[in-house]
Amino acid sequence: MGAKKRIGILTSGGDCAGLNPVIRAVVHCAVGTYNWEVLGIHQATMGLMASPPKFTPMNVGDVDALLTAGGTILGTTNKGNPFAYPMPDGTLRDRSEDIISGYHQLGLDAIIGIGGDGSAAILRKLAQQGSWNLVAIPKTIDNDVGVTERSIGFDTAVNVATDALDRLHFTAASHSRVIILEVMGRDAGHIALNAGIAGGADIILIPEIPYTLKNICKKISDRQAAGKTYSLVIVAEAVRTETGEQVINKNAMGQNLLGGIGQYLADRIFACSGAETRVTVLGHLQRGGTPSPLDRLLGTAFGVAAVELIANEQYDRMVTWQNREIVSVPIQAAIAQYRTVDLQDALVKTARQIGICLGD
Ligand code: F6P
Repeated sequence: MGAKKRIGILTSGGDCAGLNPVIRAVVHCAVGTYNWEVLGIHQATMGLMASPPKFTPMNVGDVDALLTAGGTILGTTNKGNPFAYPMPDGTLRDRSEDIISGYHQLGLDAIIGIGGDGSAAILRKLAQQGSWNLVAIPKTIDNDVGVTERSIGFDTAVNVATDALDRLHFTAASHSRVIILEVMGRDAGHIALNAGIAGGADIILIPEIPYTLKNICKKISDRQAAGKTYSLVIVAEAVRTETGEQVINKNAMGQNLLGGIGQYLADRIFACSGAETRVTVLGHLQRGGTPSPLDRLLGTAFGVAAVELIANEQYDRMVTWQNREIVSVPIQAAIAQYRTVDLQDALVKTARQIGICLGD
């Protein structure tokens, strides 16, 4: 079975459903099966940056209720690149050595980092600089981590967006309206495409496929001519205006947040079709809530696979899902390119063949 190990686990980047099932599986496998120690690091790399490091020793009894719990009990952050960390005086400082030292102070033999491509890149840089043994697990509702067909959180987000379309269907039909559902997806349209097909959208707009308002309005007027007085549109937040601008809101903290393409489209659809339009922005509902069965399964399998990599001392690797198998790849290969919707994908073809308008 090899020497007893002490491993750390952290969740990094935006949260999503399925992180807690990963933590539960890691603890069950590492502590329950291998009799190792697991330290849960608080709030991503912030827990290692703190002096003393902030962590919780985790035992099997601590993870009892985690399978169905949304979010992450360890906390997370998607702000504050440690290599240019915003200090209270407004300056940016390289805090990487503080984080690296946290790992060594805790006497860790390895660390499991659960994150998207941005987090994986930062953790890998820290691991290389600080001689850490790192294993990564992909998570993001956007499902855009390269190489893996599925990341933790995506399935739950698709379920939430599909449920929203199911509900909007009835109210759109009752009022003869066009209802636009704006979903997340910072760089890719996987949520919109999957939920759009599953939830019966008439029009699906994703950043990978340029649209024209003329095509969208034609689809709506064709439906009207066929006696369908309502239409459902799903749009990914990263879809740009017809002239190619990103739609962004700046909040009071000075952050640029994607959002508003739904309203942009609604105004123009009203102008061309005369149909009353409404917009629902689903936002962070897609990240919260109980993980779907698939995210629980994937999270459990990824957690176990990550512990197995450490048991075999295979580091600098990410666990991935490919052709119904858990396969590990070098982290560098997984983050080299993010995964957008492939225009030859079976789902793109499926959507077109049942008459869904993709805007092009
Ligand atoms: O990358 C995941 C994601 O949920 C995106 O879809 C979205 O644009 C972003 O995070 C929102 O991040 P925040 O938590 O900062 O609002």
